[in-house]
Amino acid sequence: MEYIKLNDGHKIPVLGFGTFQIPADGSTYKAVLEALKIGYRHIDTAVAYFNEQEVGKAIKDSGIPREEIFVTSKLWLQDFGYESAKKAIEKSLSKLNLDYIDLYLIHQPYGDVPGAWKAMEEAKEAGKIKSIGVSNMTPTIWNSFVPQFKIMPVVNQVEFNPYFQQKELRKILNKNKVVLEAWAPLGQGNAELLKEEVFTKLAKKYNKNNGQIIIRWVIQEGVVTFPKSTNPERIKSNLDVFDFKLTEDEMSEIRALDKGKGRWNPDTPGAGEMLLNAYDVHADEK
Ligand SMILES: NC(=O)c1ccc[n+]([C@@H]2O[C@H](COP(=O)([O-])OP(=O)(O)OC[C@H]3O[C@@H](n4cnc5c(N)ncnc54)[C@H](OP(=O)(O)O)[C@@H]3O)[C@@H](O)[C@H]2O)c1
Repeated sequence: MEYIKLNDGHKIPVLGFGTFQIPADGSTYKAVLEALKIGYRHIDTAVAYFNEQEVGKAIKDSGIPREEIFVTSKLWLQDFGYESAKKAIEKSLSKLNLDYIDLYLIHQPYGDVPGAWKAMEEAKEAGKIKSIGVSNMTPTIWNSFVPQFKIMPVVNQVEFNPYFQQKELRKILNKNKVVLEAWAPLGQGNAELLKEEVFTKLAKKYNKNNGQIIIRWVIQEGVVTFPKSTNPERIKSNLDVFDFKLTEDEMSEIRALDKGKGRWNPDTPGAGEMLLNAYDVHADEK
């Protein structure tokens, strides 16, 4: 596994395993356990994925020493504001059944982000969270919040793949030594993306599949990623991307696929309210 050093000194495995939309009916446990068994050491979950408990159980049952696994979770909108965020962090720790979380993110940048961030800064200082970061921040949103933060985020987790290369945002992140993390590296299974001719050509050359070429390209762009799969063969093949290297010409050929926009625009008016209504992380308490 390769690692990238974060701006707070911690290191993160460049490739992990995503768990969005894997239900907590035993499927998350099974997929994460399988992923850990075959060599993944970085798991991405969130309060709003409702599967932290199964992620935590898979980590325990894997028997792998805790310090070898990098775990990310994310604070959801109902828990924003200082007091609510403090409680939510404790709840994440308890659901994951961990003494610390490697990386905790502001999942969506709406509402009382500064209050939530302050609680995350304190949890970092208390050692409950090793690193803190943000997600879904466009350049506009980044500029409206981050200059007021005491601690610089280590990452901004955003939609990123060959169709949406986040050129403007990457300039801001590079300047601040913030790592870009890619969600939807495979376009959430977008068949048009996966079937692009350039990937088919390179897959033949390197004896890989199209998904592996995309993942390799993302990593060579200096971006951290965590493709999701519940299919054992794809879980395995998505990790098998460290025995070949795309040339600079091939990297450029893939860069030419950029459409400059993704499936989701966080700047959309009303986005915060829409997301707040989409997932209620306290529904089970009502
Ligand atoms: N911060 C955020 O707001 C945010 C938003 C979305 C996602 N995320 C994180 O990022 C992770 C990855 O993003 P994502 O799950 O949305 O999308 P993704 O990883 O780009 O795509 C997952 C989809 O692609 C399929 N797939 C996986 N490997 C494949 C391959 N090699 N070839 C063809 N299809 C393949 C999967 O189906 P099978 O399961 O059948 O293989 C699944 O339908 C998430 O799981 C989550 O941890 C974060």
